[in-house]
Amino acid sequence: MNKKLVLTGRRNFLLGLGALAGMGTFTVAGRLKHLMYPETWDANGDIAAAQTVPLRVQAAAKGLIYGAASNYRVLSSNPDFAALCTQQCAMLVPELELKWQALRPSPNHFNFTRGDWMAAFAHTHGMLFRGHTLVWHKHLPAWFADTVNSKNAEQVLLKHIATVAGHYAGKIHSWDVVNEAIALGDKRSDGLRKAPWLQLLGPDYIDIAFRAAAEADPQALLVYNENGLDYDTPQATAKRTAVLKLLERLKSNGTPVHALGIQAHLGNRAVQSKFTKLRKFLSDVANLGLKILVTEMDTIDKNLPQDSKVRDRIVAGIYEDYLSVVLDELAVIAVVTWGLSDRYTWLSTKQPRQDGLPVRPLLFDAQLKPKLAWHAVARVFEKAPKRLLYKL
Ligand code: G3I
Repeated sequence: MNKKLVLTGRRNFLLGLGALAGMGTFTVAGRLKHLMYPETWDANGDIAAAQTVPLRVQAAAKGLIYGAASNYRVLSSNPDFAALCTQQCAMLVPELELKWQALRPSPNHFNFTRGDWMAAFAHTHGMLFRGHTLVWHKHLPAWFADTVNSKNAEQVLLKHIATVAGHYAGKIHSWDVVNEAIALGDKRSDGLRKAPWLQLLGPDYIDIAFRAAAEADPQALLVYNENGLDYDTPQATAKRTAVLKLLERLKSNGTPVHALGIQAHLGNRAVQSKFTKLRKFLSDVANLGLKILVTEMDTIDKNLPQDSKVRDRIVAGIYEDYLSVVLDELAVIAVVTWGLSDRYTWLSTKQPRQDGLPVRPLLFDAQLKPKLAWHAVARVFEKAPKRLLYKL
C-alpha cells in the first residue's frame, strides 16, 4: 500500500470529519462511528485509508460535486440517514418537494413548506441545493387537466416558473428547467414527447421555460434533464441524436440553456456496455458550450443475481465503468445519485425484484454501511482528471 497516499488520505479524512463536527445538529461521534473504523466495513480486506474520505471531499479534490436526492419524509425522520447525507454529499436534490404536485395544491396556491425545509437543511449543512423540476409531464396536480388550456397555458407556466424559481432565487445551484421532453415512441419528427405542455404550447414551451427561469434566477445553472442516453443500443443512439438536435436548436435560438443532465438510471444492460457512443455524445454536448451533470444515478438490480455479494459486485462494476467513461469528459461537473441508501429508493416500489429480495441499487446498504459501489465511486473520483470547480 502506498504510504504517502494513506497519510494524505488520513489527513483528508480528519479534515472531512472536522468540517462535519462544525455542522451542529448531529453528533458526529455516535452517528458516524462506522466511518471512523474503516476496517469494520472494508469489503475486500484491502481498502486504503484514502478511501474513507467522504465522497463530497474526494469529488471536490477533482473539482467535482457529489450529491444525492432525498426527500423531506426521510431526512426529517431518520437522523442517522440525515447525518450520512451531510457527511457524504455536497449537493442535495429534493426528490419530490419541488414538483408541481407537491408545490401547487390548487392553481393559485403555492406551498413551499417542505421545499423550504429541504433548502434550509442543505444550507445549514453547507450543501448546494438543486432544483428538480420546473417542467415535467409527470407529477402534475389533479387540477391541471381541468384548469389548463391552450389559452391560459403560457400564463400558468410563466407564473409557476416566476414564483418557484423566484422564491429560491440565489439559493439554487442548478434547476432542471425541463425534464424528459424527448419520447421517440411518440413518433414526432423532432422526437419531442407529446407532453401536455407540447400539446398546449407547441415545441416553444421549452424555450419559454428556459427564458422564464433565467429571468427569475439569473444565478442558477439551467439544465435540460433527460433519461435513456447511456447504452450503445440503437434506441439510446436515436435518443442522443434527438437530444443533441434539441440542444442545438435551443442554442441557436439564444435560449439560455447551460447544461445537460444525464439521469443514468442504469440496468443490467450496463454490464455489457462500453458506453463508447455515450462518450462521443458527451464531447458533442461539451462542444456546444454546455456543462454536463449526472443527475439521478442508480443501478436497477431487479434482473441481477439473487446472491447479494455477487449482485453488489456487479452493481459496483456498473458504477465504476459508467463513471470512468463519463468523468473522462471535463465538461462533467457533478455526479448525483438518486438516493444514498438502499433503505430509501424509488426502485423498491417501482422496480421490485420478483424474488421479493430487497433491491440494492445505491452506495450504502439499508443499515447505512458503505457498499462496494461506494468504493467503486471513490476509486473513480480518485482517478478522475482534475477540472476547475465550475461557477456560472
Ligand atoms: O406520499 C405518498 C405516500 O403518502 C403514500 O403512502 C405512497 C403510496 O404509494 O405514495 C406516496 O407518494 C409517492 C412518492 O413517490 C413518495 O414515495 C408517489 O405516489 C409517487 O408518484 C412518487 O414517485 C416519485 C416519482 O419521481 C414521481 O414524482 C419517486 O419517488 C421519485 O423517485 C421519482 O423520481 C423521478 C425523477 O423525478 C425524474 N426521473 C425519474 C425518477 C424516477 O422515476
